[in-house]
Amino acid sequence: PTIPPHLRRLVLTGFMGAGKSTIGRTLASRLGWTFLDLDTHLEQRTGATIPQLFERHGEARFRRLESTALASALAHSNTVLALGGGTPEGLTNRLLLEQTPATFTVFLDAPFPVLFDRCIMQGLSRPVLADPDAAQLRFAARHPLYVRLAHLTIDTTSITPEETVDFLIAAL
Ligand code: S3P
Repeated sequence: PTIPPHLRRLVLTGFMGAGKSTIGRTLASRLGWTFLDLDTHLEQRTGATIPQLFERHGEARFRRLESTALASALAHSNTVLALGGGTPEGLTNRLLLEQTPATFTVFLDAPFPVLFDRCIMQGLSRPVLADPDAAQLRFAARHPLYVRLAHLTIDTTSITPEETVDFLIAAL
């Protein structure tokens, strides 16, 4: 694929279960770029797992740690970066992402029940999903943030991760 010369990184945003990591990995290998997952980056920086960070420090502190990890992640070039589902909640994060045209941000969207089912299938431990009703409210509150953050929104409800990658590459 042809990558526009001014483009340094692609950022994937969206709720848990949106496919940020799966799509990010495939996308990076198609472009010959590096894939960076913000959750993993944060776990490596702190030496703790995401559930441990939530448990030890509470969510507010988690968001600050996440924000710092994001600043260092955004220093990388030729990188596909998958954000955490809650990353856009921090104002600092939103400001940091306003570094166009070097950064192109894509919102991977789907309705809440679809995302929730995908998360259950994955069986991963995610503190924010412990209470499904609260998770649905968070989804509704975050949705406009994802839209505002992104240059492009892709509805992933009925397309495969590979089709999403094809669509995304065509849109660059
Ligand atoms: C969170 C999403 C998770 C992770 C943490 C909090 C959220 O990332 O950062 O569990 O608040 O939605 P993924 O979207 O990669 O699962």
